Order: sequence, then C-alpha cells, then structure tokens
Amino acid sequence: MQRAEQNRLLEFLKTGLEKGVTPLAKGVMRSPVADYTCPDLLADEQTVFFKQTPLLMGLSPDLPEPGSYWADNASGNPILMVRDQDGQFRAFSNICRHRGVQVVPNGKGKKNRFTCPFHAWSYSTSGDLIAVNREPSFGCIDKSQYGLNELPSAEKYGMLWVRPTGSESIDVDACLGGLAEDMDTWNFSNIVYGASQTLSADINWKLAIDTFGENYHFDVLHKDTLASSIHGNLQTHDIFDQNYRMVFATTNFKEVQDTVSQDEWIFRRMTLSVYFIYPNTILLMDSFGVDVLRMFPDNDQPGKSRTEQNYYVLPEVLPYVEENPEMFEHRFRDFNNVVYEEDYVMAASSQVGAASGAQTHITFGRNELALHHYHNAHRRGLGRPILELEAV
Ligand code: FES
Ligand SMILES: [Fe+2]
Repeated sequence: MQRAEQNRLLEFLKTGLEKGVTPLAKGVMRSPVADYTCPDLLADEQTVFFKQTPLLMGLSPDLPEPGSYWADNASGNPILMVRDQDGQFRAFSNICRHRGVQVVPNGKGKKNRFTCPFHAWSYSTSGDLIAVNREPSFGCIDKSQYGLNELPSAEKYGMLWVRPTGSESIDVDACLGGLAEDMDTWNFSNIVYGASQTLSADINWKLAIDTFGENYHFDVLHKDTLASSIHGNLQTHDIFDQNYRMVFATTNFKEVQDTVSQDEWIFRRMTLSVYFIYPNTILLMDSFGVDVLRMFPDNDQPGKSRTEQNYYVLPEVLPYVEENPEMFEHRFRDFNNVVYEEDYVMAASSQVGAASGAQTHITFGRNELALHHYHNAHRRGLGRPILELEAV
C-alpha cells in the first residue's frame, strides 16, 4: 500500500475515532443459514473453490531456497510445492505415478529428491521421475512420461498461488483484482516464516471466514482480550473485485496521533489490516508480521472446517525471536485465546443454530460490510443469485 493510500486510511480512521462513525451499507442483508449446512452447496464449493479456483497457498518465505518443499493437502488435493534447483516455484500433484500414493508426507523441508514411501520411485525437485526401484524387474518404462503431474502455479508479489486441478495458467493480477500494489508494498519476500498451526472446529468454513469479517463484536465478545488493543466498530471499507480490505485502528492510535507528526505516523504500528483474498484466505498484517489463514471444509461435512495458519515475522523481529524462542508458542496462545476460545465458540454456536432449523436466515448489519461482500463473492463464484440489501 503506497504512502498516499495509507494516509487516506489513517485519516479515515482518525475521523472515525473522533466522530464515532464507521462505514455503513445502505441496508442490512439477510443470509440463509442453509449456506452453512447444505451438503449440495458444499459439493459445489468443493468443486469450484477448492479444485478449479487458484488458491493463495502461502508466501515466498515458505520456500526459502532451492530444494525447499511444502507438501499440503489442506484443500483435499495432495499438492507438493517446491522451489526447484533454478529457484523457480512449481507445484505438482503429490501423487506417485506408480500406484498413486502420496509421495511426500505433509510438511515442509528441504530435499534434492523425493522418494515414494511405497516402492521407492524417486522424483527430482522438477517433478521428473529419476529412478525406478528394481527397474529391470518392474519393467523399463519411459521415465520421461512418468513425472509428477504439474499444476498451474505462480509466484508474484511474494505470494504463492496454485490451481489444485486442471491446466489453466494463473493470472495473479487478475486474482488480486486491484490489490497488486498493496501486496507488493507489504514486501512479503522479505519477511521470515515463523510457525504454523491448524485449528479444527465444528463450524462451516465460511463461518471461519466470517470471524474475520467485522469488529462490531470486539467490545463485547473480546472485552477482556482484543478490545484492549484494537478499537471496535470502526473499520475502513474497500472492495477489490472479489477481494476485500479493511483496516482497524489500534488503541494506541490517538496517542501516536497526538505525539507524532502525521508525516511520521507508522501505518503498521497504528493499525491491523485484514484482507479477504478470494475464495478462502484471510491475511492479517500487524506491527510484528503477517498471518495467512486459509479456511477449508473438512471433507464433505458442512459443519466442520480446518483453519490453516502460517505466521511470518518482519526481519526486525528476528533478534527478539532469537532471544525469546518461545515467542511463536506465545503468539499462537494469544491468538487462540481470542480466535479459538472466543470467536470460534460463537461460530460453533451459530452452526448449531443453523443446523437446528429454528430460523431460516441470519442478518448482517449495515456495519458488517465485509460479510456482505464475502457472501456475495462466494455466490458470484458459484453463479448463485447475490443477496440484496434491505432498507431499514
Ligand atoms: S506407489 Fe510410489 S513407488 Fe509405488
Ligand atoms: Fe473476533
């Protein structure tokens, strides 16, 4: 995000704090609870969002050097991401061409070849089949025809994108819908991978995304946690095609504003930026680093999901991490105290309410603009009718 845009957002938040106002839609929006419970809808979502749509998997520091790999089947598709010996980011189906088992166990590491655990066929970091165990006995196949199936992938602005199936290439700028400049200036290539965790919850995957869709609840649900560091019911509001950006003000905002001239305001120290990257990712940027949160359905269960979280830190935070190796553990503990113990508990309660059939709709307020956007972005993606505003 360029400085002029940062200033515009800071000015907006300053006014919002002074006047106690936040952007409002022209009406409320009612959304059917069946969107969280319907198995047929989930089947369509699995096909369109988690097989056909380019997914933001992570950031360039996930694969820091040639030979770095990351095996991930969070989308339900075993995907092997590598930085090959030329430094190029590539993605493959992590499925052996022999009998189809997963070649590389889930996780990250560094290797110069990948050996299948079943019969020890070996693949290079470029996906080529380089050795067939006991080849004369198996049969001398044309190895050039048996490389791992390559998937469309792209690395740009420090982001790693993969299309889980098919062959259509990925246009990152089109995926970002106008957010390219923002993403570029966050300088993701320069940050450092820290740690990962998975949060499993009894909530639809869209309810996990909804968690990051408003701060109307901060002063209530998070009154003893997050409310001490971030102002509730105040956000900026910007749509970038299917994506969305909102910025919150930290509670030190006024103090910085009163003590430092505007030229010296440091955007990152006064705000929390929240991006929705279609179809399933939330990015959080604060003064220490970046979270990438990817939400996935748990197989064919509409009421269960997994949130895959990668946390990265700014280079200047590294000396602190070296002195405090427990930093990542504490970071996740604090994050979970808010998100897992408060937000996802509410989301699970919404899920039970939805499944009960007691009411047909829930309502997104005028101040819950991101939720209007997320739900209609998903509807547009599936060719479903969008939800209209209802005047109040
Ligand atoms: S399934 Fe991989 S070597 Fe046999
Ligand atoms: Fe929350």
